[in-house]
Amino acid sequence: MRQKSILLAGNWKMNHGPKATAEFISALSIPAKGDAQMRLYVPYVSLTTALKSVADKKLPLQIGAENIHFEKSGAFTGEISGPMLEEIGIQQVLVGHSERRQHFNETNETVLKRTVSSLNQGFEVLLCIGETLAERNANQTESVLSEQLKLILVDQTCLGALSTKLHIAYEPVWAIGTGVVATTAQAESAHAFIRNLLIKAAGESKANATRVLYGGSVTPANFKELIACPNIDGGLVGGASLKLDSWSALWNLL
Ligand code: PGA
Repeated sequence: MRQKSILLAGNWKMNHGPKATAEFISALSIPAKGDAQMRLYVPYVSLTTALKSVADKKLPLQIGAENIHFEKSGAFTGEISGPMLEEIGIQQVLVGHSERRQHFNETNETVLKRTVSSLNQGFEVLLCIGETLAERNANQTESVLSEQLKLILVDQTCLGALSTKLHIAYEPVWAIGTGVVATTAQAESAHAFIRNLLIKAAGESKANATRVLYGGSVTPANFKELIACPNIDGGLVGGASLKLDSWSALWNLL
């Protein structure tokens, strides 16, 4: 049996500026739940406020950025670099979210570059993968997941970081923001497939210690059965992370 260490991560996307962020965190309580960890990925402009609110309340809450550029500085209008995030005290970054892939032309190649550059700068990366509905309906789920992880799982920096600084979020695109959550069978099957890819690339002990989170319409009504699946190590939560009651309810299920 794998030892699980649950991560409940929220992805606020383009929601909650500094004011709402301060209000949310100052009202949050996080009773200890074994070695479970809570984390929130928040918009760039809210990062400093989030870090300050966490420090003021001495909360065991990690704060992360929703993206990061692979260059350290330069002519990349609108982008944010690792040194900038480091300067304000950020250690966590999300990379490759499907909305970045869909709306901002992120590819497996740019996702690799962002991941490797982040790891080389000491950030912990949560790398998102997942198939679209058309790909699932065409029976391509596993080949898409393999393809999305192919460059990552031959890169020495990434292989070395698995289990410590590099973790995975499986988010079927058709389940994101739709209210249609994957069944536990669908989710566990994809997670077991990903786990096997990790085992083949990095060996059993590293693969087993790598968190693979599920994301896509996670709510307090479905979270418990999802995290009961052997290969699901927590959730990456959009909508239900935005409201204090649903977010606290998810934590209290642990
Ligand atoms: P959702 O979003 O929980 O609103 O489906 C999840 C995500 O995009 O990470």
